[in-house]
Amino acid sequence: MEENKDIKLQQITGYDEAYYMPVFGKRVPLVVDHGKGVYLYGTDGKKYMDMIGGIAVNTLGHDNGRLVRAISSQARKVIHCCNYYYNEPQTMLAKKLVEMSFADKVFFANSGAEANEGAIKLARGYWSKKGTPKPKIITAKMSFHGRTLATIAATGQEKFRAPFAPVMPGFEYVPFNDFEAIKNATDAQTGAIMLELIQGESGVHPADFDYIQSVRKFCTQNKILLIIDEVQTGVGRTGTFFAYEQFGIQPDILTLAKGLAGGVPIGAVLANQSAATGFGPGDHGSTFGGNPLACAAALAVLEEIESKNLLSNVQNVSAYLQKKLQSVSKKTKKIAEVRGKGFLLGIELESGSASDVKMKLFEKGFLVSSIGSNVIRIAPPLILTRFQAIKFISALQDVLEGKE
Ligand SMILES: Cc1ncc(COP(=O)(O)O)c(C=O)c1O
Repeated sequence: MEENKDIKLQQITGYDEAYYMPVFGKRVPLVVDHGKGVYLYGTDGKKYMDMIGGIAVNTLGHDNGRLVRAISSQARKVIHCCNYYYNEPQTMLAKKLVEMSFADKVFFANSGAEANEGAIKLARGYWSKKGTPKPKIITAKMSFHGRTLATIAATGQEKFRAPFAPVMPGFEYVPFNDFEAIKNATDAQTGAIMLELIQGESGVHPADFDYIQSVRKFCTQNKILLIIDEVQTGVGRTGTFFAYEQFGIQPDILTLAKGLAGGVPIGAVLANQSAATGFGPGDHGSTFGGNPLACAAALAVLEEIESKNLLSNVQNVSAYLQKKLQSVSKKTKKIAEVRGKGFLLGIELESGSASDVKMKLFEKGFLVSSIGSNVIRIAPPLILTRFQAIKFISALQDVLEGKE
């Protein structure tokens, strides 16, 4: 039996090498078979605690009853219809997101990058329609906004742009958490400032409260649109439904994706009434965006977050996790810093390789991601319990102490 499982891994990795573009490099040697709750099961027959949740996507974990029922019953009704017609899940999801947020209008896309493309277009459209085009958008160094050509241009990391030059013009990058830098970069062409509230992909670096407050005030005073990219931080991940709620501000435009439909591809652009005027009929669109299947899934995710009180679960279990991580740090002297909010945490190692720690945790049955050379990121499903959290902590401690 065991032998068969190994054959599956060999077969799939062999085919992957032969047929898949090598953009993911060498992956963790796990062929995922199925999942249940916070666990994934491999074709090797082993059970893994999913502490990365599809990179902040599997909001409800795996095989959630409400989500699976919503997807299958919607699939039986209609999976897709084009945007020539109305579909109820799309409209009801837009209504729900507006009721939950600062926004007055919503547009649905299929991914985080696409949502950000929409936000960038919306900001430029807004100024063009006013008759005073202001194409420049200020973004932060070390930010991450996606992999499409416009979103690599928005991303403040040269390595994502360089091989694909020339990139789209109109972006200026400033150091994160440096308000003066934003002021200095602003000129008459500046139409928008686009920021994450926690820079997830560059090592889980949270924005300072005062920084975001100052940027908001500055945008209002200077009539600049504030775009907040909550592709990774949204949908309860930080313990509030939107991370911006914890910064005492409201953006003009916000993007969501990842966790919104619990694993079914979706993206969303939310905007206040004024910013939403950037799009009129024919200005934007998407074949799949807002399709009934994805929107029905998202509605189920939102219902489950509410009915199961998952935001308080995130707050409670995160506080516990952070406390325990601090004591592991004291005991092992192997952790330099723990950063982040809710269930988006970065554990910066004092020394040693994050990739090695990731692989040792994998061998013990825990899935995490490593960022750069020294940060372990966790982004588990919002259903993670204290009991599960402590299992992870004790495995991490063992790994850091070099126990087998
Ligand atoms: C903040 C942020 N924006 C945008 C994206 C891109 O999302 P997607 O991979 O769905 O295109 C990501 C993905 O990691 C992200 O973290």
